[in-house]
Amino acid sequence: MENRSFVTIANHSRQKIEYLLAMAREFEQNPNRDILRHHVVATLFFEPSTRTRLSFETAANRLGARVIGFADPKVTSGTKGETLKDTIMMVSNYADVIVMRHYLEGAALYASEVAPIPIINAGDGANQHPSQTLLDLYTIYQTQGTLDNLNIFLVGDLKYGRTVHSLLTAMRHFSPTFHFIAPDELAMPDSYKQYCRDHGIRYVEHQDFDANVIAEADILYMTRVQRERFTDLMEYERVKDRYLLKLPMLSKARENMKILHPLPRVNEIEYAIDDNPHAYYFQQARNGLFARQAIICDTLDITLDEIK
Ligand code: CP
Repeated sequence: MENRSFVTIANHSRQKIEYLLAMAREFEQNPNRDILRHHVVATLFFEPSTRTRLSFETAANRLGARVIGFADPKVTSGTKGETLKDTIMMVSNYADVIVMRHYLEGAALYASEVAPIPIINAGDGANQHPSQTLLDLYTIYQTQGTLDNLNIFLVGDLKYGRTVHSLLTAMRHFSPTFHFIAPDELAMPDSYKQYCRDHGIRYVEHQDFDANVIAEADILYMTRVQRERFTDLMEYERVKDRYLLKLPMLSKARENMKILHPLPRVNEIEYAIDDNPHAYYFQQARNGLFARQAIICDTLDITLDEIK
């Protein structure tokens, strides 16, 4: 049987990405549909989440499905020593699809190999966050009218930031130029730079983060320095406030430039920017609902024609 899991977006063709975006667009027109009646969606969150879990659960609820799961692994039999495999096998008895966030890189792929039902990767450690990427692509298209030939600036934690890793791989079809702005300690890993070279993706690394640099951006994608990924908290303290976006830094921004952030924000974007026309991170988070409705339907083999 075909494995319909959504573990990574790196292997998706341009055509498949555009298909999922078209589905998300349909759901934005009308997110309330009764197409998942008699379906159960399980959300297993081994790591904290606000947006991803709640938007997946809202997506399922608005499509008529019922939702089971946990937001905190401390309330599960994992605390008694049950393995991930056994947990997945058990939940597969109860649900039609599993949405899983896990702190281990590769956990979603592993789950997809053992589960008899589809797995949706809601973030695996510092590796990938493909549903975030679908909503990011949706938002980029919504604000730019295209995904092609854009200048995309990635700022902050590019080492552990799974959202930027997923976005980078998905953009290979769209001829972007990436601009990496990060402390040396949190630079984009060599493996992703090699990925860029292998796929003809242009990238530039910057030390400065000021109005002149931002002036070139179509998308300014800010990210949080993730305290939870550091083993050395002194290092976290050294780098955590290195790149703070302040209002005057937008003085030379292109009219079309939008500031995105997967959120949560800690200290990367000052609050004075929230009402600026370039700020788009809350609308971006809203798009998560529609993108995740598309992903759930696709993993359950419900087609675009069926939802039109
Ligand atoms: N963007 C994102 O993954 O947010 P949460 O951690 O709140 O789910």
